[in-house]
Amino acid sequence: MAQKKVKLTIDGQKVEAKPGDMILWAALDSDIFIPNLCAIKEKEHPQTGCRLCFVEIEGRDKPVTACSEPVAEGMVVTTDSERIDRIRHTAFELLMSNHNVDCANCSKNKSCALQDISAKLKFKLKSKRLPSIVRMLPIDDSHPLFTYDPNKCVLCGKCVWACEKMGAGELQFAFRGIDTVISTLGGVPLVDSECKGCLDCVSVCPVGALVPHKT
Ligand code: FES
Repeated sequence: MAQKKVKLTIDGQKVEAKPGDMILWAALDSDIFIPNLCAIKEKEHPQTGCRLCFVEIEGRDKPVTACSEPVAEGMVVTTDSERIDRIRHTAFELLMSNHNVDCANCSKNKSCALQDISAKLKFKLKSKRLPSIVRMLPIDDSHPLFTYDPNKCVLCGKCVWACEKMGAGELQFAFRGIDTVISTLGGVPLVDSECKGCLDCVSVCPVGALVPHKT
């Protein structure tokens, strides 16, 4: 028997979603934009790392992350308010403060999720409010198929998930706090890792951190 759909309202629009679906997917499936970087539909436990997907729910005091909040019958969701804009803007500025903004020389130029969010929400890629703290970490160009530039990584974890899913598990989060980085097991260069060259990590990377070599 087909599952009964959950009916809710997002930004005044009536939306239907599968029970258990997160607000983020219900909104995106209905062409309602909510910025997001770290959400993975198939992943059971959302990472909620990027903090970009906050929305407000009628009757709740605090905004919630749309990627981790399931839909509920009759729920009324707002994706755009002054409070939401403030939270998202701060999250975006923090993210960009350690991102090497070099769009003109980036092979993801014009297909980068950061550019998309910046254009849709009218947030500047370079913040004047926060100092730039790009770490200038070494770029790993050792692999025959792709390059990894940690200075462009937004720590969304999609590559870690993709690598795990295909059974290699070579990419991992390493260190903590401001030092967090995506790294191979043991921090070895990609060419010396157990990478099978499937390029799944490259295809899920929303920014210019993992890019195929130019042919
Ligand atoms: S998409 Fe929800 S916190 Fe990143």
